[in-house]
Amino acid sequence: MSTSEKTMTPYLGKLAKVHDLAAEIKLLRVELLNGGGEAFANFQPGQFAFISAFGLGEAPFGIANAAQRGPYIEFAIARLGSVTTGLHELGEGDVVGVRGPLGNCFPMDEFKGKNLLVLGGGIGGAPLRPVIQHVLDQRGDYGRLTILWAARHPSLLVFTDEYDEWRGAPNTELFLTVDNPDETWNHDVGLITQLLEKVAPSPENAIAVTCGPPVMIYHTTRMLEKMGFAPEASYVTLEARMHCGLGKCGRCNLGEKLICVDGPVFNMQAVGNLLETYL
Ligand SMILES: Cc1cc2nc3c(=O)[nH]c(=O)nc-3n(C[C@H](O)[C@H](O)[C@H](O)COP(=O)(O)OP(=O)(O)OC[C@H]3O[C@@H](n4cnc5c(N)ncnc54)[C@H](O)[C@@H]3O)c2cc1C
Ligand code: FES
Repeated sequence: MSTSEKTMTPYLGKLAKVHDLAAEIKLLRVELLNGGGEAFANFQPGQFAFISAFGLGEAPFGIANAAQRGPYIEFAIARLGSVTTGLHELGEGDVVGVRGPLGNCFPMDEFKGKNLLVLGGGIGGAPLRPVIQHVLDQRGDYGRLTILWAARHPSLLVFTDEYDEWRGAPNTELFLTVDNPDETWNHDVGLITQLLEKVAPSPENAIAVTCGPPVMIYHTTRMLEKMGFAPEASYVTLEARMHCGLGKCGRCNLGEKLICVDGPVFNMQAVGNLLETYL
């Protein structure tokens, strides 16, 4: 069986943990069955997988944990349409289909020795959590870790129960902002670009990784460039509607690139001039 035939066939996965992460966003922890554990043994930060809700279909999601935190894979899933609603209705012990791991990954080895700036907007923070976990688990290999984390409202912030772990790690700082605060909010208010301007991280020996809604990625990466982050020091993860996830159907194109196989992680040098069409 070729690799692509293999990856069209989903493994089965049992939901080992399901819990509310934020409003209309659930964390699904999947334990892989029937050989899936082997296929997913060495997945890398930035990769994604298709999850199927039986009878409804499948949809792609960024893998939200680092492999060393396993043996399981986690997904943060926002309820949007039929597949994600079906997945939200499942509970612990239920079985889903899992196809992957797919796509490329962040070059974590090349990031070693660099300061890392992680910019996550809303559910877009999910594929950046493996980057954060990877750095925290191999803290000595990386320089300063600065996390800028944003959402429209405090109830939409993901992984809130891990912020203390992030803040408490050596040489690590976390900055939070929301567009619309509630009465309990005591962090920044405004767009992530405003927070970026305020924090003003140095581009020296630094790499920026950004994920979030297209408009956030567009404006954040433009601002990073103005702040001195060269395109080759800036990475993004992108999304598109997908069918095959294997570079076969052409559904996920961005210019001549296919997000499912050339991405979802891109260096800004490769896609900077395409981001206007991504909006
Ligand atoms: C590489 C990749 C990683 C992703 N990671 C995550 C993740 O970690 N967590 C998560 O919650 N979602 C993620 N998504 C998006 C997820 O795939 C969609 O939300 C899902 O396909 C919606 O399926 P559905 O059947 O529930 O909704 P549908 O019935 O297919 O769509 C419902 C509505 O949402 C719109 N929609 C669907 N998909 C998208 C999209 N990608 N962008 C904008 N609008 C869309 C549709 O146009 C429609 O209006 C990712 C997508 C890709 C390609
Ligand atoms: S989803 Fe088919 S080529 Fe990318």
